[in-house]
Amino acid sequence: MILVLLGPPGSGKGTQAKKLVTDRKWPQLSTGDMLRGAISRGTQLGLEAKSFMDKGALVPDEVVIGLIRERTQESDCQQGFILDGFPRTVPQAQALDKMLSERGKQVDRTVLFEIDDSELVSRLSGRRTCGNCGAMFHVETARPKTEGKCDQCGHPLTHRDDDRPEVIQKRLSVYHQQTAPVAEYYRSTGKLRSIDASTSPTEVAHALQDALK
Ligand code: AP5
Repeated sequence: MILVLLGPPGSGKGTQAKKLVTDRKWPQLSTGDMLRGAISRGTQLGLEAKSFMDKGALVPDEVVIGLIRERTQESDCQQGFILDGFPRTVPQAQALDKMLSERGKQVDRTVLFEIDDSELVSRLSGRRTCGNCGAMFHVETARPKTEGKCDQCGHPLTHRDDDRPEVIQKRLSVYHQQTAPVAEYYRSTGKLRSIDASTSPTEVAHALQDALK
C-alpha cells in the first residue's frame, strides 16, 4: 500500500500516521519531520529549509522531491509506505507519480482530512511534541501526565517554531492556495477518499480504516 495523507496543518495526519505505523507496520514518511531533522543536525539543507519553514512557506519542490526519492528507495519502503505531508503541490504529485511508475508502482489511495480552519488554530497553538521519540501532545486535549515531559520517554516537550499564530495563518493560506489543488489532482484519478477530521482521534482512526478498505 502506498498511501498519501492529505490535509491542512493540524488536521491530524501525523497523529493518524503514527497509529497506522503501529497497527499496520507501514513506515511513515513525513517531509516535515525529515526537514526538522536536517535543521536539528545543522545541515546545509536544514539551514535552507528553515528560512522557508519559519515563515510558513513551502520548501522548494526539488528539495522535498529529492528527499522522497531517496527515502522511498530504502529497504523498509519496498512493501509500501505512508506519505504524510507530501505531495503538497501539483508538481510534487506529478513527480511522485513519475518516480513510482519508473519503479512499476503507483499511489494506491489518498485520504483527505477535511476540517474547518477555525478548529486548526487551537490544535496547532496547543500542540507539544517530543523531540526525542516524536510523540505528540496537546496542552488541553492530550495533556502529558507530567507537564512538559513526554509520557513515553520523559524527554522535554517542545513547541514548534511554526506553531505561532501568525505563522499558522500563513500555513493555512499556503494550504488553500498550493495544496488544495493536489486533492483535485487525486480526485480526478478516482483514488481520493475524504474523511471528517473534526471528530475525536479514535473516530478519525475508524473513518481512516474505512477509507482504506
Ligand atoms: P509538516 O510538519 O508536514 O506540517 P503540516 O502539514 O503543517 O502538518 P502538521 O504536522 O502541523 O499537522 P498534522 O496534520 O500532522 O496534525 P497533528 O497530527 O500533528 O510541515 C511543516 C513545514 O515543513 C511546512 O510548513 C513546509 O515549510 C515544510 N514542508 C513539509 N513538507 C513539505 C512539502 N512536501 N513541500 C514543501 N514544504 C514542505 O495534530 C496537530 C495537533 O492536534 C496535535 O496536538 C494533536 O494532538 C491534535 N489532534 C490530532 N488529531 C486530533 C483530533 N482528532 N481531535 C483533536 N485534536 C487532535
